[in-house]
Amino acid sequence: MARDNTPAEPILSIDHVTKRFDGAVAVNSVSIDIMQGEFVTLLGPSGCGKSTLLRMIAGFETPTQGRILMRGEDMSHRPAYDREIGLVFQNLALFPHMNVFDNVAFGLRARGRTDGLQAKVQDMLALVGLDGFDTRRTGQISGGQRQRVALARSLVTQPDVLLLDEPLSALDLKLRRQLQTELKRIQQETGITFVFVTHDQEEALSMSDRIAVMNAGRVEQFSSAVDTYHRPATEFVARFVGETNLLRGQVQAASGGRVTLKLDNVTATVTAPAGDTSLGLGTDVAISIRPEHMTLGTDQPIAAQVLSHSFSGATITYALDSAAGRLLAQVPFQPGGGHPLPAKAPVSVGWTDTAVTLIPGKPGRS
Ligand SMILES: Nc1ncnc2c1ncn2[C@@H]1O[C@H](COP(=O)(O)OP(=O)(O)OP(=O)(O)O)[C@@H](O)[C@H]1O
Ligand SMILES: [Mg+2]
Repeated sequence: MARDNTPAEPILSIDHVTKRFDGAVAVNSVSIDIMQGEFVTLLGPSGCGKSTLLRMIAGFETPTQGRILMRGEDMSHRPAYDREIGLVFQNLALFPHMNVFDNVAFGLRARGRTDGLQAKVQDMLALVGLDGFDTRRTGQISGGQRQRVALARSLVTQPDVLLLDEPLSALDLKLRRQLQTELKRIQQETGITFVFVTHDQEEALSMSDRIAVMNAGRVEQFSSAVDTYHRPATEFVARFVGETNLLRGQVQAASGGRVTLKLDNVTATVTAPAGDTSLGLGTDVAISIRPEHMTLGTDQPIAAQVLSHSFSGATITYALDSAAGRLLAQVPFQPGGGHPLPAKAPVSVGWTDTAVTLIPGKPGRS
C-alpha cells in the first residue's frame, strides 16, 4: 500500500484504557497509538494483560476506564461485528463442516460482499500459500495449514486492523519460523495494520515495527524493535527482552550528556550516555549491558572466573562469576582459535561503553 506524506494520524488509539475484573486490574491505564500499516506487537509474560487488551480492541470486552478510537472515532458503543477488525486466535475455530474455500469465503458472504468472491478467495489462498487446497476439508489439513486458512479468512474482508493472539504458538519451531516470515511478508503486501500478541521475545523482535512490552497490566515501553532491545527503559524490559547484565552503581560525575558511575562491589567506573535523564550526583542507577557487548580478556576491569559456556555455532556465551555477580559474555567463535575456555579459568571482563544503557529508578523491579 502506498504511503503518502500527509502527517500520520493513528489508525488505532488506546487512550488510558483500564480493565478490572472483580477488583483485580488486568490492564492498567494503557495508552498507545498505532499507525496505519504498522506491525505492532504486545509482548509480555503470561497474565500481563495482552489478550485482555486485544479483546477490548476487538469489542469482546468493555474497558472499565478509557477509550479506544479507530481513525479518531470512539469505538465504545460499536459492537464487535461492526468494527473493521479481523481476528486470528491461537485456538481458532475453523468451520469443520465447510471446506477450505467456504471457510475463507465465510466473512464475505456474511457481509453480502459476493461480487468477485471466487477470485478474492483464490487470491487469498495463493497469498497464504494454499493454492489448490480449496476443496479440502479442515480435518484433512495440518495445523500449520489451518493457521493459514484462519489468516486467509480474516484477511479476505480487508479489515483496517488485524488482531493476532499468539497465532503461531501451537506450531513446532521450524514451522513457526517459516510462518513468522510469511506473516511479515503478507502484512507488507497487504498494508494492513497488525496487532500481534506473543510472549516470545525473539518472535517480537524479528517481526515488529514497534513493540509494547507489558508487565502486570502496564506498558513499560513502547518503541521500535531495535530500541526495545538496545535501549531498554526499565529493568523489566532489559531482562525480559533478551539476556542482559545488570550492574548497579551511583552517579559520580555528569557532563556533556554522559555520566560516570561508580559501580557497586567492584572498583570500576563506567561512562554511559545519559540520554534525556538528568541525574544528581550520588543517585542510584542500574546499567544494562547485553552479553554480546561484553569484552573478555586479561586486562579488563572486572576479574572473573568461568562457570560454564554454551556454544551456538557462531558464538560462545560464557557464564562468569565475578565480584559484580553472575555475568554473561558472548564472544564470536573463531574457527581454528582453539577450544572454549574451561570451567574455573580466570578471565577479566569489560564492555563497550557506547553499548551501555542507563536505567534510572529504583533497583530490583523485575
Ligand atoms: N474474564 C475474566 N475474568 C476474570 N479475570 C480475568 C478474565 N480474563 C482475564 N482475567 C485475568 O486478567 C489477567 C490478564 O489476563 P490475560 O488473558 O489478558 O493475560 P495474557 O497476557 O494474555 O496471558 P497469556 O500469555 O497467558 O495468554 C490475568 O490475571 C487473568 O487471570
Ligand atoms: Mg493471552
